[in-house]
Amino acid sequence: MSKVSKVSTASAESAERTVSAKSAESANKSEMISQTGSEKGQPGDIIGEKIILRPMTLDDTDLIVTWRNKDIVRKNFIYQKPFTPEGHQHWFHTMIDTGKAKQFIVCEKINGSSHDVRPVGSAYLRDIDYEFSKVEFGMYIGEQDAHNKGYGTEITTLITEYAFKVLKLHKVFSRIFADNIPSIKSCLKNNFIKEAYLRDEVKLEGRYRDIVLVALFDDSNG
Ligand SMILES: CC(C)(COP(=O)(O)OP(=O)(O)OC[C@H]1O[C@@H](n2cnc3c(N)ncnc32)[C@H](O)[C@@H]1OP(=O)(O)O)[C@@H](O)C(=O)NCCC(=O)NCCS
Repeated sequence: MSKVSKVSTASAESAERTVSAKSAESANKSEMISQTGSEKGQPGDIIGEKIILRPMTLDDTDLIVTWRNKDIVRKNFIYQKPFTPEGHQHWFHTMIDTGKAKQFIVCEKINGSSHDVRPVGSAYLRDIDYEFSKVEFGMYIGEQDAHNKGYGTEITTLITEYAFKVLKLHKVFSRIFADNIPSIKSCLKNNFIKEAYLRDEVKLEGRYRDIVLVALFDDSNG
């Protein structure tokens, strides 16, 4: 099922524009992507119903390193080596500064307010491929008490909308461990399809792990 919503977008590279968003059912709950830093949020913020995605800065390094090294997060990623501030700063300069990736801090709204928020995790689009119009999506919530509140589903809605309507990409895909039910569900609830099942794709801590490839397409972006 897809519905149409109106969001106004702001990003470093885009002027204010109103776009029609084809996405999952909850997409039409997203309020806006703020352009001006009005009372609705800061420039570049993507404002949803329960969460806000704000662009990650270098000041978020400690948060990222702490979250990404927690077992609840790390064990769900193929790359499982410890994150360091230096390693993250290298990622920032080579991927974010160059525009090869976009990364956001996921902030939960406290009492529904866009002003009173708590950072709980991160979401990113990496290896943006403008030639083939596709990108890989990843996310994590590093605060355990913020799990299972619908944030993963809403992150997926908001970031795919951003990929399609702001970056104008055609395909968003994700590689997910086959036993990662919350992540797979977050994608399927946003109309992702399962593209492939890769058996014994990686060996981690002495155990082979299966991976599911999921993807969402926007046919209006050729
Ligand atoms: C993946 C992740 C972001 C999902 O976020 P979330 O906010 O917990 O997800 P949601 O609350 O939107 O839940 C999505 C679905 O998963 C279900 N779910 C959530 N936690 C679950 C759990 N521990 N066990 C089983 N199902 C669970 C929810 O019930 C919901 O399904 P439903 O709508 O049928 O009820 C979060 O689990 C996480 O950060 N995990 C660690 C990092 C990770 O796995 N990242 C993805 C790597 S590909």
